[in-house]
Amino acid sequence: MTTKNIPNHVGLIMDGNGRWATAKGRERTYGHYMGYKRLKKTATHILNKGVKILSVFAFSTENFQRPKEEVDYLMDLFLTSFKKEIKYFVQNNVKVVFSGRKEPLSDTVYDSMKELEMETISCDGGILNICLNYGGQAEIVDASKLIAESFKNGKIKLEDITVESFYNYLYNELPAIDLLIRTSGELRLSNFMLYSISYSELYFTNTCFPDFDEKEFDEALESYQNRNITKGTIKQK
Ligand code: FPP
Repeated sequence: MTTKNIPNHVGLIMDGNGRWATAKGRERTYGHYMGYKRLKKTATHILNKGVKILSVFAFSTENFQRPKEEVDYLMDLFLTSFKKEIKYFVQNNVKVVFSGRKEPLSDTVYDSMKELEMETISCDGGILNICLNYGGQAEIVDASKLIAESFKNGKIKLEDITVESFYNYLYNELPAIDLLIRTSGELRLSNFMLYSISYSELYFTNTCFPDFDEKEFDEALESYQNRNITKGTIKQK
């Protein structure tokens, strides 16, 4: 496979953990645990391929409406894995950042996110952006509020607000997503990074996330590389 045209920023909607586990006669939570294990391997592979930024959808604001046991399990998984994996990300030179709102995350979960961010802040071998308690419309609203503040304080003028400068007000000031992948056969965007996916190439696979391995990503990459992509002038920050 050619090594040319590696997407700068890949988005990944990690869907199908629950169905994967149910099909094996296991609890849905087992699927989330195996999704976490899969994320660690696949994210490392994607960044080693030369992708600079990987944004993953770990937990949407709507996910708080799931049964309490499932939400509790996921929050516990986040807390323990963020603490446990600090060393792994530092060793692999991956900078971890989070996108999303604080409320209603508990202080313990939020602190573990901040700790992982701080411990990996100097890593420069790729960025893993974990969207947690995240909603794409909320991100645009939050960015608009920041812009309104800056305008009110006289820090910016109306003409400074452009399609390109808007990226600077998103949660992590990351550039546009080039390739968006969703696993498990669902054909929806589900409020994921709406501003950043305006010109993304889309790739859907029936594979559930716990099975989305290195080979599966390479197939998505090959599909991307075989497309005739016309870069829009507003695609990159
Ligand atoms: C959606 O699939 C997936 C989630 C709500 C959770 C995703 C979380 C992980 C992959 C774990 C990530 C771990 C860390 C530490 C970041 P679903 O379970 O709703 O699938 P279903 O549609 O089959 O029910």
